[in-house]
Amino acid sequence: MTTTLTDTKSGKMLIDWLRDAHAMEKQAEQMLSNTARRIENYPELKARLERHLDQTRRQADLVRGCIERLGGDTSMIKDMTGQVAGLGQALSGLFVGDEVVKGSMASYVFEQMEIASYRTLMAAAEHCGDLETKRVCETILREEEEMADWLENQLPDITIRFLSLAERGGTAKH
Ligand SMILES: [Fe+2]
Repeated sequence: MTTTLTDTKSGKMLIDWLRDAHAMEKQAEQMLSNTARRIENYPELKARLERHLDQTRRQADLVRGCIERLGGDTSMIKDMTGQVAGLGQALSGLFVGDEVVKGSMASYVFEQMEIASYRTLMAAAEHCGDLETKRVCETILREEEEMADWLENQLPDITIRFLSLAERGGTAKH
């Protein structure tokens, strides 16, 4: 299976998309570590971001493993695709005084992009008959969904905590 897959158009597309996913995880790693490091007054958020940072590093390795197993050239792995870099920059540009709120929103948006990517990859892998890649992508997808759900639930609390701290004139920034 793996020797012929790279010769098909769909197989090449699958490998391309896996490379994009790898780039996306590297971007996520950067965003998560930057955000987690700057957060002080939200211990739960900080801990959850750090946990997802660990997951993200493993996800990047798993995706890389899929590319290698398919015989794709990993030397061509880019650290960022234009699209992902663009989104990352746009999101980090939002960081101002209310960065904990904006950072949480940005993380949530990023998770949704990851969810869309792994759903796409699962369908592509199935189409190509690469059930191992499909399984790996499903495992990663569950982690992204858990993170997205957590953020979705926490956004109101984070916002209210931010506003309360701001009203008290404390270090509302982080
Ligand atoms: Fe991820």
